[in-house]
Amino acid sequence: MKNQNATPRVWSTIQATARSFSRRRFLGSLGIGGAAALFAPWGVSAFARMSPRSLATLDAALAAQAGGFTLPPLPYDYNALEPHIDEATMRLHHDKHHATYVGNINTALANYPALQGRDIVDLLYHINDMPEAIRTTIRNSGGGHLNHSIFWATMGPKGGGQPVGALATAINTAFGDFNTFKQRLTAAATAQFGSGWGWLVLDGNKQLQVISRPNQDAPVMEGLAALVGVDVWEHAYYLKYNNRRADYLAAWWNTVNWESVSKRYDQARGA
Ligand SMILES: [Fe+2]
Repeated sequence: MKNQNATPRVWSTIQATARSFSRRRFLGSLGIGGAAALFAPWGVSAFARMSPRSLATLDAALAAQAGGFTLPPLPYDYNALEPHIDEATMRLHHDKHHATYVGNINTALANYPALQGRDIVDLLYHINDMPEAIRTTIRNSGGGHLNHSIFWATMGPKGGGQPVGALATAINTAFGDFNTFKQRLTAAATAQFGSGWGWLVLDGNKQLQVISRPNQDAPVMEGLAALVGVDVWEHAYYLKYNNRRADYLAAWWNTVNWESVSKRYDQARGA
């Protein structure tokens, strides 16, 4: 079945339009509070934080808002990732799970008009400054909205293989070679207890790192630029793979759109 809502061209247009609006809104929001947040620790992190400008450029475009957050259409058909990720899972995952995160974050912000003009990257980056009553919802549902927006954008039909160019060089420098990187990310995602994500991120020292995080904790909360992530919530694979997370992870590598990931890398490092 085709997803009637999206074509790659429409998706690109949406991103380009959102980028121009979201960047201005995000940078405009960086007042004294924004500057203070740069020095406010988020838990205990060994990573240097990316600049909010780099993160806004990278991710705000994926989570544009106009009178509330909206579910971004898939940039390909629901069955485009077959046989690696099945159509039924994609429909449930995108249309139900992601949509629920979007609904929850909009509901949470309904009584906070001052926050409604800020994009999701901005809200998560300043998570410690958010009102306590809705901080957990922003973290969980806002994080879920951003994480899944990145997830859809970094997969695609005819995916897999390896990156080329600057990202390939950076991966070789950081991890030795692509296969070692692949093993590291697979191991991190496999070992994530319960629900969560495995990520390739760029930190504030422009270093690539492999991390895993529980639930919907978004790397941007730590000032990390998420380049590509794999969702290891059971809703991402249980219909097809049941409890076999390792099989799902092996299949997921065949869906990665390295061109998209490379563009994210270039944006994050300011190339
Ligand atoms: Fe998910």
